Amino acid sequence: MAESFDPEEVARFENETWSRCAEGYMDGFCRLLGQGVGPLLEAACVGAGHRVLDIGTGPGVVAREAAARGAEPVGLDFSEPMLSQARRLHPGLEFRHGAAEALPFDDGAFDAVVGNFVLHHSGEPDRVLGEAFRVVRPGGRMAFTVWADPRKLEAFGLFFSAVQEHAGAAELPHGPLFGVSDFDTYHSMARRAGFGDSQVRELEIAWLTPTIDSFLDAFRDWADLGAFPPAVREAIESTVRERAEAYRCGDGYSMPNPAILVAAARPAA
Ligand SMILES: C[S@@+](CC[C@H](N)C(=O)[O-])C[C@H]1O[C@@H](n2cnc3c(N)ncnc32)[C@H](O)[C@@H]1O
Repeated sequence: MAESFDPEEVARFENETWSRCAEGYMDGFCRLLGQGVGPLLEAACVGAGHRVLDIGTGPGVVAREAAARGAEPVGLDFSEPMLSQARRLHPGLEFRHGAAEALPFDDGAFDAVVGNFVLHHSGEPDRVLGEAFRVVRPGGRMAFTVWADPRKLEAFGLFFSAVQEHAGAAELPHGPLFGVSDFDTYHSMARRAGFGDSQVRELEIAWLTPTIDSFLDAFRDWADLGAFPPAVREAIESTVRERAEAYRCGDGYSMPNPAILVAAARPAA
């Protein structure tokens, strides 16, 4: 975490980026990120009757799965277009507008606090964990997923190496934790926030897609590909299609992109 980040700048960039992705998210990024949901909820021991906060809920996939397990979830996000998708897809669930760094909830309001691929998008991840600690009850649990070592992220690498090659630069939307893959950093962060009994492990997940079109569609929104000159955009897309052939698997494609799962408990009072 050597680089310094302006939290407001990160938040503005993240909000814009994810708002742009909201409509196509379920058919795009969710094919990869959705695989973190089961392990995340298991690590937080989410079960029937538990009050669960899903930070950075996006279109509400984690909240939906928590509800399917009998829990009472609240999804929180700072992107209004993401919240509109969540409310449209899950009209029976509660979604709130707010920032992960200043949660609009009382102390100890939840049995578990989770966040699927949101911690590395915050400019102030220590504050996010501090807030998670505050709103979870003594004895409750937290779990977050982040990305593993960038050298292992083959799905992201497939796209960004093509951007690098044809456009010369590839800017990723992220905060200071993107690319931080040593487990000790996460153990220390959990401890600093007040949590105990932290566990950190790698999750083998992959971007599974029937077509490279849906993969490219996701990145078109995320990386604002429309802003590139048409010839550059076409070159990027054709390089991605060519290299994606190495990831053919059955009727579709499977591109490895492992994650890190961090879980811990707030000590009982
Ligand atoms: C990668 S998406 C993950 C969405 C969802 N958790 C999932 O697994 O499908 C990150 C989400 O976190 C939200 N987000 C990012 N930074 C945030 C912050 N500081 N406060 C609240 N929401 C944030 C974004 O708007 C986006 O919806």
